[in-house]
Order: sequence, then structure tokens, then C-alpha cells
Amino acid sequence: RARQALDEHFDGSISELREAAKDCRRCQLWRDATQTVFGEGPDNAKVIFVGEQPGDQEDLAGKPFVGPAGKVFDAILDDAGVDRQKVYVTNAVKHFKFEPRGKRRIHSKPTAGEVQACRWWLDREFALIKPELAVALGATAALSLLGKAIPVTKMRGQVIEREDGLRVFITIHPSFILRIREPVDKEAERERFLRDMREVKRLM
Ligand code: URA
Repeated sequence: RARQALDEHFDGSISELREAAKDCRRCQLWRDATQTVFGEGPDNAKVIFVGEQPGDQEDLAGKPFVGPAGKVFDAILDDAGVDRQKVYVTNAVKHFKFEPRGKRRIHSKPTAGEVQACRWWLDREFALIKPELAVALGATAALSLLGKAIPVTKMRGQVIEREDGLRVFITIHPSFILRIREPVDKEAERERFLRDMREVKRLM
């Protein structure tokens, strides 16, 4: 099955898919990353949250959204009454892309080609889990899910229905909140994201 997943056809389970993704060579990002960070959550989840790509801590832990952005995400999901244990969380791109700067590894944005290459995995996660709703956390996730660039700040809070019927809820990436320095603005942005997550909860 692992071999099969490296070809175009795959009819295994989500755990077999996760196993196969460990050896992914669909783009070059595997070379510098520690490991593939695959999606996590119940295989019958009603909602799939899609981020951009693992960060430094996710790369080391092998789990999505466990670093600083993940902490913000968890806290706001909790405030919105969404149980993270009941949803599936994954990324558009499954290897950490970074530039070394001294001892640190600085996140760098995946290209459209890398997003396209990794969409092979995302499509199969969706095909196996069959969620009722997708949540695009930021522009890269929206690009991957919808196949075109979406003005996220303009479209946030809205649902776009794909040709295959999948509903895609558009919102910002939680790291956007982390980057705001001004406390008042940060709190306002947190509130907006909380409102979006409450809407997701209502749509679930
Ligand atoms: N940012 C993402 O988009 N995904 C993660 O898993 C962590 C940070």
C-alpha cells in the first residue's frame, strides 16, 4: 500500500496514507525537513481545518499546530466551544520549508508548485474522511482547497462551495494574530477569529 500511495492510485485507509506520506518525494521539501507532518484527528471528523505548512515545532514533533500558532488556535477553538479532539487538522503542505538564520529556522512560504504537489495528499485526506466542511486557515490553504488565489481578508467568514459540493469556510491564519504587536489590535483580531470559529461551530 505504501508503494501504491506513491503511484497515482490509492485505496487504503487514512493510517496507510499517513504511513505512505513519510516517504513522499513529490517535491523537494522533504530534503531539509525533519519529517512529514501529516494530518491528525478522527477519521470520521465532520470538519477538516487546513493550515499552510508545519512550523519549526511541528517539524520536530511530527504533529500539526503544536507550536505558537497552534497554541493560539487551540485557545480560540476552546473559547468557541469547538473540541479539537473531534476535528481533523492538517496542512496544505506537509513538510516544513525554512531558511536557516543562525541557529534558528525561519518559516518560508511554500510556492504554488509545492502546494500543487502536496495537494495529492490533501485530496486523499478529504476523500477518506469525507467531512461536511473544510476550514481554510489563510491564503495558502484557500489556494490549495479552491485551486485559485482568494482575497482572504475580504472573503473571511464566508463559505465557498466547490464544484464537488465541499463547503470551504474562509478565514485568516492564526499566526496573523501572533504577528500583531499593538495589544488593542491584537485583541480585536483575536475577537474576529473567535467570531469566525463560532460560525464554524454553527456550520458543523
Ligand atoms: N502553521 C501552520 O499552518 N500549520 C502548522 O501546523 C503550524 C503552523
